[in-house]
Amino acid sequence: MAILQASQLTKVYGARHASAVTRALQGLDLDVEVGEFVSIMGPSGSGKTTLLNILAGIDQPTSGRLYLDGRDLTSMKPAELALFRRRRLGFVFQDYNLLDSLTAAENVALPLALDGQRGLAVRKRVLQVLSDLGMAEQADKYPYEMSGGQQQRVAVARAVVHHPAMVLADEPTGNLDSTAARALLTTFQRLNHEHGTTLLMVTHDPFAASYSRRVVFIKDGRVYSQLNAPPGGRDVFFQEILNTLAVLEGQR
Ligand SMILES: Nc1ncnc2c1ncn2[C@@H]1O[C@H](COP(=O)(O)OP(=O)(O)O)[C@@H](O)[C@H]1O
Ligand SMILES: [Mg+2]
Repeated sequence: MAILQASQLTKVYGARHASAVTRALQGLDLDVEVGEFVSIMGPSGSGKTTLLNILAGIDQPTSGRLYLDGRDLTSMKPAELALFRRRRLGFVFQDYNLLDSLTAAENVALPLALDGQRGLAVRKRVLQVLSDLGMAEQADKYPYEMSGGQQQRVAVARAVVHHPAMVLADEPTGNLDSTAARALLTTFQRLNHEHGTTLLMVTHDPFAASYSRRVVFIKDGRVYSQLNAPPGGRDVFFQEILNTLAVLEGQR
């Protein structure tokens, strides 16, 4: 079953000033099935952030069709879109985006609190997610008392606490050292394998991408090629990703 169906998405920036038009997306097609773990890769300026912002409902495409979780995102009114984002999507950012004045548990509880949920059931769910991610002991710590890797795992807990249909991550390992990055990627993999969480991750790091099950390469606002994880394992996939990137970058 498809959770995301995007067809012929275009995004034109600065359309009113013909001299400064940027065609960030130029007919991009992307389907994601329930339970997939997909990476989006591509050179700087290829449209990755534009795509993610459109999928997140932060930005609107200039044209094209976009169905997410059975809903037509392009026809939703702003209030409806805001509610959809809050209830059905989870977000992980490069710089964690935790609230400094809240503990780990309070940060994770935010999506539930915003939805009007309170009390013991919330606390229980929050602690369950934190402990799933190996963060039970950090529950009452503030962000400044945690390492970057721990903060990012709190951010992941916050992204999944409300059982979203899909989690969108923009360069989630961008600020992490290699040990913390590995831990985070293993966490993503476990969420995907054991909980069936659907993940879409933008990354420029081929090592990070090798943890996913499919890599979509974008160039000039279009899908350039795709790779599925081979049965040979992550090392083989990593090498295949490197090879594709070499060709893609070489053609510039
Ligand atoms: N708000 C904006 N206004 C005008 N141009 C933009 C804006 N955002 C992105 N662009 C342009 O759109 C293209 C794609 O950008 P972006 O989606 O950020 O690419 P990526 O994330 O792959 O680096 C680039 O040429 C960029 O300069
Ligand atoms: Mg970007």
